[in-house]
Amino acid sequence: MDPMVSPFSLSGKTILVTGASSGIGRAAAVECSKAGARVVLTARNRDRLQESLEMLSGEGHLVLPCDLDNAEEIAGLVADLPVLHGVINNAGFTKILPLQFIDEQSFKDILSVNTVAPVLLLRLLLKKKKLAAGSSVVFTSSLAALGRTTVGNGMYTASKGAVSAFVACAALELSKKGIRVNAVCPGMVDTGILSNGTISEEQLEKDKMNYPLGRYGKPEEIAWAMIYLLSDASSWVTGTNLIIDGGYSIR
Ligand SMILES: NC(=O)c1ccc[n+]([C@@H]2O[C@H](COP(=O)([O-])OP(=O)(O)OC[C@H]3O[C@@H](n4cnc5c(N)ncnc54)[C@H](OP(=O)(O)O)[C@@H]3O)[C@@H](O)[C@H]2O)c1
Repeated sequence: MDPMVSPFSLSGKTILVTGASSGIGRAAAVECSKAGARVVLTARNRDRLQESLEMLSGEGHLVLPCDLDNAEEIAGLVADLPVLHGVINNAGFTKILPLQFIDEQSFKDILSVNTVAPVLLLRLLLKKKKLAAGSSVVFTSSLAALGRTTVGNGMYTASKGAVSAFVACAALELSKKGIRVNAVCPGMVDTGILSNGTISEEQLEKDKMNYPLGRYGKPEEIAWAMIYLLSDASSWVTGTNLIIDGGYSIR
């Protein structure tokens, strides 16, 4: 390792970010570019991906739109990708439904995007040799996955619980290739996911009181942890679920 280069640098690395059209994924793309990475941005919405692209530092970044709910589109994305040194599997969504109102289609939709798609994507990246030796894969899981969940969030909690459990197995299997696999588990972060009308303003204000640091997280605060996990600074870290929650889980 060059002593003049920070181990936290992403210089020379190409990083794929899913869900890069908003929120945590957009912040991750921006912060990775500031850390020196070439970034490949994907999501469905082309206009918002373009906005993200315009926010990046440096050059050589790519936009490759993809609906991760569609296996054929995932295959097309992988075919178009350059060789990667890191992946942020971040795209996801929630739908709040009390247990009695859970319907099969909603549950399948959440599992498809939050759980199945990142696993299929990783599988194809390996099969098509798009992950360089020494790569790092980061999943955006959730505090909910570790049992700190909320009423009505069962489908989402199950989808992220599966992701957090999967990370251990993927880390074990890919260790032979020198590929590391970790997840970040954020508490509530101020993004569009909070303003989609499923959680009332009053509920949000009450919930913030549960955070010892007195506020929700900012997307950049998750991105910085992702950079650590993508960079050589975390070269002995694999199979972890890193909690980033303003102290919520110590209460
Ligand atoms: N915000 C929080 O409090 C929080 C806490 C813990 C974990 N998380 C997790 O963090 C991740 C990012 O969430 P966020 O808060 O940043 O939400 P967000 O602003 O709504 O971003 C979600 C991203 O996922 C993409 N996406 C959704 N469905 C997709 C699909 N079918 N195909 C491709 N891309 C799709 C969206 O892009 P398009 O609409 O353009 O496709 C968007 O870029 C999610 O996995 C979420 O579960 C969030």
